[in-house]
Amino acid sequence: MSSTDAPSRLLVRDLAQVVTPASAEAPLRGADLGRVDVIENAYVLCEEGRIAAVGRMSDLGPLEGEVEELDGRGLSALPGLVDCHTHACFAGDRVEEFSLRAAGASYEELHAAGGGILSTVGATRAAGEEGLRDAVRRHREWMLHAGTTTLEAKSGYGLDRETELASLRAIEAEGGIPTWLGAHAVPPEYEDADGYLDFALAEVLPEAAQIAEAADVFLERGAFDREQAKRYLEECRDAGLALRLHGDQFSEQGAIPLAVELGARSVDHLEATGDEGVRTLAGSDVVGVMLPVAALVLGRPMPPARALVDAGAAIALATDFNPGSAFCESLPLVASLACTQLGLSPGEALGAVTVNAAHVLGRADRKGRLAPGYDADLTLIAAPDWRHLAYHVGGEVVAAVLRAGRLEWRR
Ligand code: NIG
Ligand code: FE
Repeated sequence: MSSTDAPSRLLVRDLAQVVTPASAEAPLRGADLGRVDVIENAYVLCEEGRIAAVGRMSDLGPLEGEVEELDGRGLSALPGLVDCHTHACFAGDRVEEFSLRAAGASYEELHAAGGGILSTVGATRAAGEEGLRDAVRRHREWMLHAGTTTLEAKSGYGLDRETELASLRAIEAEGGIPTWLGAHAVPPEYEDADGYLDFALAEVLPEAAQIAEAADVFLERGAFDREQAKRYLEECRDAGLALRLHGDQFSEQGAIPLAVELGARSVDHLEATGDEGVRTLAGSDVVGVMLPVAALVLGRPMPPARALVDAGAAIALATDFNPGSAFCESLPLVASLACTQLGLSPGEALGAVTVNAAHVLGRADRKGRLAPGYDADLTLIAAPDWRHLAYHVGGEVVAAVLRAGRLEWRR
């Protein structure tokens, strides 16, 4: 079957395992996060882009009418992976900075010296909307090959009206879920963050709010402070956007209390989060999104994932795919890091890159589970035990990917 065929019915048969988070809740918390249902020798029947049935091969009766088949022998089916935090819309690269960091320079020093995010801003402004679409398409293709079927992507490397809006349009046109990261850094043409926010909120927000689903801010020393973040997020909320924050990456600046106060969907990073932050987040509806590749690449402490889950917080995991702190599109690698560095089980890692990530994107009613009625997005793992998702570190663990009941890619 070629990838352009879109059968109305597709039977993925003879799968070694079909695996899905067990609880029907969203987001999953506590012990529910790690509970998975595993069906051995199983099938998934897709109809009109949705899952029609999941079960054992031995229980599969004769199917009337035309049905295409996909041989799942030796493979395990998972819900299509959901990457709820990426910066996939950028031009150029930062391989030079990577080399400088390898020689000892710090990320924050490079940022303060006008490198880092601002060097990507220059390349992104020069790319034009077509160039940005090409970039998002290329990055999305990499993610697909790593098993990602749903991705969020942020603007934030334009920081002028034209490039921010072009970024959001490019993300949407290439099938991503756009987030306006209008407060990522202060661009060089503004002297201070308040002046830049005056411009962004007056000139960019009205149109950005028509394209984006959420707004995001980098709340950190050297970027935006708590008051500035609050002002930005409140105006974005009033314009109808869901709220996200980059918080506690290098230092605690009040991101978690602010996220709770404003009813944000998520607060992301959390490498610097202490005990009080863990308690506050656990007592709220805000999801803690952890990005272990960024912690690894920047040599930061890993975020307190175990403590958060044990305290009852809702957590998700994502790549943070970006040219500076995490040039990595692989959620399987994130799952490996979750199990080896964050103290999570394979089941908890699975819940965090499926149901809970879908919840952060407001799509937990359609994505993140293999159950009748959900979108027929499947990631097929190249092993008869689904835990190879995390066990195979950096390996070619994805065998094939289906979106809306159609085979999009196979190795
Ligand atoms: O999530 N911390 C802020 N933003 C990104 C990195 C962006 C970059 O370095 O280009 C992050 O890690
Ligand atoms: Fe990020």
